[in-house]
Amino acid sequence: MTAAALWTSAEAEAATGGRSTHPWVASGVSIDSRTLEEGDLFVAIEGLNQDGHAYVKAAFERGAAAAIVRRQPGDLLPGMPLLLVDDTLAALNGLAAAARQRTGAKVIAVTGSVGKTGTKEALRLLLSKQNRTHAAAGSYNNLWGVPLTLARMPIDAVYAVVEIGMNHAGEITPLARLTRPHVAVITTIAPAHLEFFDSVTEIADAKAEIFQGVEPGGVAILNRDSPHFPRLIDCAFMSGVERIESFGRHPDATARLDKAALHAACSCATATFAGEQICYKIGAPGEHWVMNSLAVLLTVRAVGADVGLAALALADLRAPKGRGERHRIAVDGGVATLIDESYNASPIAMRAALAVLAASPPEGRGRRIAVLGDMRELGDRSAELHAGLAADVEAAKVDQVYAAGPLMRALYDALPPRLRRLHMETAAELIANLQADLRPGDVVLVKGSLGSRMGPVVDALCARPVEPAEAD
Ligand SMILES: Nc1ncnc2c1ncn2[C@@H]1O[C@H](COP(=O)(O)OP(=O)(O)OP(=O)(O)O)[C@@H](O)[C@H]1O
Ligand SMILES: [Mg+2]
Repeated sequence: MTAAALWTSAEAEAATGGRSTHPWVASGVSIDSRTLEEGDLFVAIEGLNQDGHAYVKAAFERGAAAAIVRRQPGDLLPGMPLLLVDDTLAALNGLAAAARQRTGAKVIAVTGSVGKTGTKEALRLLLSKQNRTHAAAGSYNNLWGVPLTLARMPIDAVYAVVEIGMNHAGEITPLARLTRPHVAVITTIAPAHLEFFDSVTEIADAKAEIFQGVEPGGVAILNRDSPHFPRLIDCAFMSGVERIESFGRHPDATARLDKAALHAACSCATATFAGEQICYKIGAPGEHWVMNSLAVLLTVRAVGADVGLAALALADLRAPKGRGERHRIAVDGGVATLIDESYNASPIAMRAALAVLAASPPEGRGRRIAVLGDMRELGDRSAELHAGLAADVEAAKVDQVYAAGPLMRALYDALPPRLRRLHMETAAELIANLQADLRPGDVVLVKGSLGSRMGPVVDALCARPVEPAEAD
């Protein structure tokens, strides 16, 4: 095996209370046989729709070093090493707790209604330039993703960044206690994932559960501009977190934004950090990235890394795929710009994306076009929250709106007729009209919740190759 050992059978037995059929050494951990890498330990999770035990053989065929199982699958060959346990999710949690126990890393946990993955990726970018950094894959932030992230943590990591999310009250507490962060960041509190909550205050309380895991002497990093800030501080104190730092425009923020110049593809920020002014460029556009960058730099400082170097590295930040990534796309007669926001949508993220569209001037005869899909998980207030974006669409100087889905109908109907171009039940039904309509110089924003399937719209618009000379 070339990759470094992460778990031996003896360590995994001690961490899980299980029993190995053979000795083994694994270089990684996976719960998905499709993405498993050679040398990984496969954990057969019994999920809502799938039972991982059905994929143990496939995992070994892809090169798994061993598998954690509750029962021996019938289709296995003798010699395939198994770690037999009573409960595979509990075993994954056991590995996570042991990984947390043995690491010397400074551990950061990021939660919030939006911006968790973006903040986590920014921290990965900045901290990995300074020292060995482990960070969650993708948006792994739930009861499987958090223990998996911890179980994957290399022994020699110096920094670890864990994303923690939730849909219900009570979900963050066990994940935070497992993670035991030195630094807990709450990006912002907003109506997103509202389905199982009666109010945004309840969301704030649920996010505040993160403080219950913070290590003694640890730091909470909070949004000073949020109306929920006083409540979050109270929750932090009640959980024994005494060190609180904040970011925002508020004059008392530890990291205070003095000025932001928002351009089409980047921003420049001037901020005062604990009394010292710094100026830096953020290579992803939008005020929301400026705000996230303040939280990121406070976090960098809290884990003892170099803030100056980190601020310089923010220029290399790019909006991730589906969260603002920009493309030059071929259209009849030339090239247009596409902003891919197809991964996620909530009112606050929609406003942030529309503001980026507003700051992106079309070229020549081009227009601003918004292609909007349903914002999901908003519960009873869904129609009102969709329709409530009409003023933001107008303020963003949008020329045409294409809308998809039953929920987006509420916004479409609330728009002035001159902006309404087309509404369809599904995103796929918009594609042909949109492609025929686009012209050179247009700036097209495509945004919706993942489940609204705006991704295929982005794929269709990106499918035509752009001449290299025009690609920028
Ligand atoms: N501070 C912010 N304010 C408003 N919108 C933001 C902010 N940060 C990120 N966003 C936008 O919110 C959307 C989701 O971003 P991201 O994936 O980072 O959030 P998340 O909290 O990880 O979401 P999820 O709950 O799906 O894991 C993106 O469209 C992103 O551009
Ligand atoms: Mg995420």
